[in-house]
Amino acid sequence: DIDNKVEELLGKMTLQEKIGQMNQLSPNGSIDQIAGVIKEGKVGSLLNLTDPELVNKVQEIAVKESRLGIPVLMSRDVIHGYKTIFPIPLGQAATFNPRIAEDGARIAAVEASADGIRWTFAPMIDISRDPRWGRMAESCGEDPYLSAVMGAAMVKGFQGDSLDDPTAIAACAKHFVGYGAAEGGKDYNSTFIPERELRNVYFPPFEAAAKAGCATFMTSFNDNDGVPSTGNSFILKEVLRGEWNYDGVVVTDWASATEMIAHGFCKDAKEAAEKSVNAGIDMEMVSGSFMENLETLVKEKKVSVATIDNAVRNILRLKFRLGLFDNPYVVSDQTVKYAESHLAKAKEAVEQSVILLKNDNEVLPLGEMVRTVAVVGPMADAPHDQMGTWVFDGEKEHTQTPLKALREMYGDKVQIIYEPGLAYSRDKQTSGIAKAVAAARRADVVLAFVGEESILSGEAHSLADLNLRGAQSELIEALAKAGKPLVTVVMAGRPLTIGKEVDESAAVLYSFHPGTMGGPAIADLLFGKVVPSGKTPVTFPKMVGQVPVYYAHHHTGRAPSGKETLIDDIPLEAGQTSLGCTSFYMDAGFGPLFPFGYGLSYATFAYDVLELSADKLAANATLTARVNVTNTGKYAGTEVVQLYVQDKVASVARPVKELKGFQRVTLQPGETKTVTFSLPVSELAFWNIDMKKVVEPGEFKLWLGTNSEEGLSADFEVIN
Ligand code: IFM
Repeated sequence: DIDNKVEELLGKMTLQEKIGQMNQLSPNGSIDQIAGVIKEGKVGSLLNLTDPELVNKVQEIAVKESRLGIPVLMSRDVIHGYKTIFPIPLGQAATFNPRIAEDGARIAAVEASADGIRWTFAPMIDISRDPRWGRMAESCGEDPYLSAVMGAAMVKGFQGDSLDDPTAIAACAKHFVGYGAAEGGKDYNSTFIPERELRNVYFPPFEAAAKAGCATFMTSFNDNDGVPSTGNSFILKEVLRGEWNYDGVVVTDWASATEMIAHGFCKDAKEAAEKSVNAGIDMEMVSGSFMENLETLVKEKKVSVATIDNAVRNILRLKFRLGLFDNPYVVSDQTVKYAESHLAKAKEAVEQSVILLKNDNEVLPLGEMVRTVAVVGPMADAPHDQMGTWVFDGEKEHTQTPLKALREMYGDKVQIIYEPGLAYSRDKQTSGIAKAVAAARRADVVLAFVGEESILSGEAHSLADLNLRGAQSELIEALAKAGKPLVTVVMAGRPLTIGKEVDESAAVLYSFHPGTMGGPAIADLLFGKVVPSGKTPVTFPKMVGQVPVYYAHHHTGRAPSGKETLIDDIPLEAGQTSLGCTSFYMDAGFGPLFPFGYGLSYATFAYDVLELSADKLAANATLTARVNVTNTGKYAGTEVVQLYVQDKVASVARPVKELKGFQRVTLQPGETKTVTFSLPVSELAFWNIDMKKVVEPGEFKLWLGTNSEEGLSADFEVIN
C-alpha cells in the first residue's frame, strides 16, 4: 500500500534529496534554469507551469534523469475556474448551494489538469468580516458554518472521487489561520485572535476541509498575537496534526518562511527554515531557505532527521495518492476548455448567486411593456473586469458581458441603447454622463452596471473607502433623475457601501464578479426567465466605519433597543440630547445596510407553524425543527431557508445567533412545503471557559427564517 511505498522510497533517499522534495519553485515559464536542479532531485513541486509540453518535459527529466525518478508536483492558483470562470468564491457562497461550489471546482480541475496542473491553492476559507480586505472576494464570507460547507464542497470538486484520477487536483485549505482578520482590513496585517475565538470561529472551516480529505494546507501571512503562522507549532502540530490527525502536506505561502525575518520573528533565512520546519511545515514555497539551510541545521542538530522524514513522508504520500508515480505525464485533452457543459454550469452558478437587494413596485422582472432599454455604466461591457480577482487563465474573449448577452438574447424583443457614461469603474470623467442620461430618457427602463474593476479586490488590494469609485455615484444620481425606473446591477469583489445608490434605484441586483457567463445569467434574471435566489454571504455595511460588522457578534451588556434615532435627526435647538447609552453608532444607527443571509425574490415567501420535536432534550439527542414555507407570489421561486441558534447563557458570552443549517427550497406559486431540519445537539458544542468543546446544558433559542434578522423562533432546553 501507499505507506509501504513511501517508506521504501524514503529509505533510499539522501538527506539532500529529502530536502529537495520540500522545495517548491516558480520557473517563470521557462524550465532551462531549473533542469539541472530537477535532475539532482532538488525540486518537489513547481508553480505556474501551464504548458502541457513543458510539464511533460519536466516530468521526463525528473522521472528518467533524476536518481530516484520522483515526479514533480505541478501547482497553480486555480481559484474560481481555470478557463471557464465561475463567480468569485464570495459569489459562489451567495448561492448557499454546495453543489454549485462542487461543480465549479470539478470543472476547474478538469480544465486545469488538461494542462498538467495537479495541485491548486484553493479553497480559501478564511473567515472574512472586513470588506476593506481585498481578499474577501476569494473567501466564502463571514460565517464559519457557510464557509465550512462551501469549502468542503470545493475540496470534493477539485479532488473528485479519487485523487489518482488524472482529472483530480489536490486542494489546499488556506490560509491557516486567521488571515481574514487582518487588523484594519489591510492585507498581510497582524491579527489578534484569542484561542477560543480561533477555535469557535476560524478553525471550523479548516477542520471541515481536513475531514473532507483536503490534500494540503497552506499557512497564512499574518502573525497572530506575535507568532507568524508559518512558525506556529500550536496551529500546525498541536491542532492540525495532533487534534485533527491530518496526514496531508503543509506548504508555506509565497516566501512566508523568509518573511518571518521581516516580522522580526527570525534573524535570518537559516532561523526561518529552522522555525518553519520545526513548527510543522513540509514544503517551502519559493524562498529557498530550506534548500540553503536544512542540511546544516540537521548537522547542528537544530532540526532532526525525523522531522525532515515526516515532512517528506507527507509529500511522497501525496504524490502516490495522486497517482503521479504511475502517470507522471499529462495526456492533454484541450477540448474540455470552455466546454458547452462547463459554460452551462457557470451560468447556473451566476443565476443562483445574484442577490436581489431591492425591487420596488416589482420593476423586475422586465415585462412586456418594456420596449426600449438603456444599458449604461462601466461594467456593462467589461469582459475582463467581470471575471474578478485571481484569473490568470480565463480569457476575456470568452467572457459574455451583460451588453453582449442582452443584445443576443433579448435584442429581438427590446431595443437596446448603449451609452456607458464612464469608461471604467474608477473613471472620474463626468463628460459622458449627459449622454447616458439622454439614453435613459429615451428608454422605458434604465439598466446601470456599476461596481469594481477586477483590480480593486484581491491580494494586496485592500481599500479604506467602500463607496463606488470614480464618478459612478454621480452617474447613478443623474440617471435616477431621468424619470425612468432605474435598475442598478453591481459587479464587485466585496460588499460596497451603496446605501445612497440603493435609495436612488428602483431595483438593485448584486452579482459580485460573476465570471465568464455573467452576461447571459444576468440577462435572464432581468427578464424573469430565471428568478433570483442569492443571499448575502456577508453583512453589507452602511458605512465603512461600521466595519467589522457581522451578524454573529456577541451580546454586549447594552444592546440597542426601541426606536433608532440618528444624531442628525436631533435639531440643534434641542441642545445636548442623549440618544441612549447603548452599543450603536450615532450616525449609522443600529444595523447594517443588509444583514447576512438577505436576498429577495420575484416570488414572496411566508413562514408559519414552526415546530420543534422536543422542548427538552439530552446532549446526545437530535432536534428536528420544521416550518411551513409558502410561495405567496406570482412566480415560481427558490428560497434559502436558514436555521440559526442562540445559546442563551453559557460559561462564556456566545454569539447572538449562529447559522447551523440552510436549505434551498423551490416552490410554485401558492405551494406550501414543510421544510425539515435535523440538528444534532452536538452541533451546539463550543469551546467553553475551560477551553473544552462541550454542549453546555441550558436554554437555547432557534430561528427558521429568510435571513439572519427575520424568522420564526422557538425555545428549547438541553438537559444533562
Ligand atoms: O496561493 C497563493 C496565496 O494565496 C497568496 N500568495 C501566493 C500563493 C501562490 O500564488
